[in-house]
Amino acid sequence: MQKPKVYVTRELPERGLSLIKERFQAEVWPEYPAPPKEVIIEKVAHVDGLVTLLSDRIDSEVFDAAPNLRIVSQFAVGFDNIDIKEATSRGIYVTNTPGVLTETTADFAWTLLMAVARKVVEADKYVRGGQWRVGWHPTMLQGRDIYGATLGIVGMGRIGSAIARRAKGFEMKVLYHDVIRRKDLEEQQGIEFTDIETLLRKSDFVTINVPLLKDTHHLIDERHLRLMKKNAILINNSRGPVIDEAALYRALKENWISGAGLDVFEKEPTAISNPLLTLENLVVAPHISSASFETRSKMAAIVATNLTAFFEGKIPPNLVNKMVVETKKPI
Ligand code: GLV
Repeated sequence: MQKPKVYVTRELPERGLSLIKERFQAEVWPEYPAPPKEVIIEKVAHVDGLVTLLSDRIDSEVFDAAPNLRIVSQFAVGFDNIDIKEATSRGIYVTNTPGVLTETTADFAWTLLMAVARKVVEADKYVRGGQWRVGWHPTMLQGRDIYGATLGIVGMGRIGSAIARRAKGFEMKVLYHDVIRRKDLEEQQGIEFTDIETLLRKSDFVTINVPLLKDTHHLIDERHLRLMKKNAILINNSRGPVIDEAALYRALKENWISGAGLDVFEKEPTAISNPLLTLENLVVAPHISSASFETRSKMAAIVATNLTAFFEGKIPPNLVNKMVVETKKPI
């Protein structure tokens, strides 16, 4: 039997890529930057499966060009780049890579939080830039205390709850807000549910951990930023458009809040001319929260597992659009 044809939009870590190459007739986009949309459209014409990254826009234009496409296996937990409704209506399965990146992503929210709170990036520049001319001074590079502070988590899913677990070691009070109340986690982790306004008013640190949906687009806007404490720090490593960047710029520039850490932007890569990048009280990273060797390798293996399960006639373990099963069974 002929192996199914799969197009892979980027070189994945070896562990997953070798499995894909072994089990499928795979073609891989070889360049570091994303393939242009026209290339994806051309390549999907004869494939049965497609492996995507969050930077590939997969919509009806792509589906129209892919008469044989049965599954999109996304290398990410988030899938806002894929038109799920459209995929489902066409009987196309969509899978993602949840679970394996939870702890790594929670680590990175903490990395940003601590870097902003204790001015790590500013301190590094200070030393390298030759500004460290006085050996020690009581007011040099003062930051904010993390230990014992209040952490507000917006979005208590897998990643939010992993961030909350880490807060225990810092003896923090943890508030959370979500559309789903998690009484189980309240009991297990001693966290407290509040409405979003109360969370923003009371927290010293706020982390954003929601998926990008219509309802979460610009969830953190001027009104919400103005509710935050003047010395509060905002961290986002979910999706950029959840925060209104123009409002955040004003909030940081005019000291409505004291700092922010961003791993994600409204548009990625963000332009070097983004005014946010002129601010000292901001630490930034290029969307790398899940980027550890171990986790990226596991994500690639899951991409391969989802594809394999599907083409063996099974329901893939990380199926996003479960409703698709009612319209079309796997191969
Ligand atoms: C990364 O942002 C992901 O969704 O996996």
